[in-house]
Amino acid sequence: MSDEFVKVAQKTDIPIGTARVFNAFEKEIAVCNVEGEFYCIADICTHDGGPLGEGELDDYQIECPRHGARFDVKTGKALCLPAILPVPTYKIEVRGEDIWVATHATTSGAR
Ligand code: FES
Repeated sequence: MSDEFVKVAQKTDIPIGTARVFNAFEKEIAVCNVEGEFYCIADICTHDGGPLGEGELDDYQIECPRHGARFDVKTGKALCLPAILPVPTYKIEVRGEDIWVATHATTSGAR
């Protein structure tokens, strides 16, 4: 089965070193710009539902603004407590200036 993608943003919408939250395919997702490479995770912390996309992005790590858990935006892996379970990740395709996100998670995470 091939992945289905939807256009969610333009590259210029997400400056380097930041994350932006979008509502796409009925899900809240956070697209992160790490040195010009884009990664997408669910905007829901697996600890207690915190808004991950509002967290600080430091290299490949995003910190949940609620209690400070960190996740690897490339893999979704939880890197420190209080989160234990990974967050879902979504494939990205950059087509010209546009960012497209797969509608099905690559890694399912916890929820
Ligand atoms: S909700 Fe994210 S660390 Fe608690």
